[in-house]
Amino acid sequence: MARFSLLSILVLSSFLSPILAFTISVDIPDDTDPLIRQVVSSSDGEDELLNADHHFAIFKSKFGKTYATHEEHQHRFNVFKANLRRAKKHQLLDPTATHGVTKFSDLTPSEFRRQFLGLNRLRLPADAQKAPILPTNDLPADFDWRDHGAVTAVKNQGSCGSCWSFSTTGALEGAHYLATGELVSLSEQQLVDCDHECDPEEVGACDSGCNGGLMTSAFEYTLKAGGLVREEDYPYTGTDRGTCNFDKSKVVATVSNFSVVSIDEDQIAANLVKNGPLAVGINAAFMQTYIGRVSCPYICGKHLDHGVLLVGYGSAEYAPIRFKEKPYWIIKNSWGENWGENGYYKICRGRNVCGVDSMVSTVAAINVNAH
Ligand SMILES: *[C@@H]1O[C@H](CO)[C@@H](O)[C@H](O)[C@H]1NC(C)=O
Repeated sequence: MARFSLLSILVLSSFLSPILAFTISVDIPDDTDPLIRQVVSSSDGEDELLNADHHFAIFKSKFGKTYATHEEHQHRFNVFKANLRRAKKHQLLDPTATHGVTKFSDLTPSEFRRQFLGLNRLRLPADAQKAPILPTNDLPADFDWRDHGAVTAVKNQGSCGSCWSFSTTGALEGAHYLATGELVSLSEQQLVDCDHECDPEEVGACDSGCNGGLMTSAFEYTLKAGGLVREEDYPYTGTDRGTCNFDKSKVVATVSNFSVVSIDEDQIAANLVKNGPLAVGINAAFMQTYIGRVSCPYICGKHLDHGVLLVGYGSAEYAPIRFKEKPYWIIKNSWGENWGENGYYKICRGRNVCGVDSMVSTVAAINVNAH
């Protein structure tokens, strides 16, 4: 059955490819980049590899890549070629997005997972507080917390599996803004160095810096520790330093309470609008090659390996089904502004694609200025 549906999808996508070639050529956000245009618009399957050395040269200069030895250079070139093929495959499986060369194109999938993801548990603690069910009848059609001043600039976790700490600070930055009217960038390094909160139900599942963590445990840590300090008071190094330099007198944002939101998409939207940006887990399989537009893969695992921030939702006519509005979530990532759409990812709403609806948490902050 599974094999049958995979086959039918592949057959379907090969029928669709003449249409895709058209829609893609008009919708690429960065179609001035010959590399990306070549990868996504080639249609005979192998021609993207003809100029692989040329593409690799552009990639190296664009992202400032250097390799210590000739062997390393050759190895990275081979990985790069494999990623060109993978981007091509992702383009077929996810035609509403644009896939191609990204700054991660010289990493194998397992290197990428180890260095740039870092959600180390797959399920939420069973005893987590459940968010109350909210009314959903008058939700706005489109909503984006960036338009309401609740989102800081895109950050960069670097080569450290600390995504969970960025998802946590993003949610608390939004909640703190809602409580106080002030947008303050909060410290991920405090979480990386000081938060070793463990899941009482899963032996060994503890927040562990660059080796992964979980947003709900990080909220629990923040609640117990008294809060988070400003980014500049505990700057990000992207390394496990082994010591905690937290100065409690510098706390600027304090957690009041947090809870887990049900998998229902209207509840997720209602909690987003009411409480601010939400911490979510996602399967990042399609993100290594993502360039832009709305990601809506036919097949995507529900295994959650990346923590990100849900900041809004909208809808658009997106290819290949044109003239039909389809809804999507707007996700803030922590891979710098030179990834995705200025650091953001759009993923379709409606069927828990890549598990995006299955691990959602919300946090409230105390107004520390109120006396
Ligand atoms: C915090 O607790 C209040 C009162 O129980 C509840 O109404 C609210 O939804 C909670 N907020 C979050 C973000 O969990």
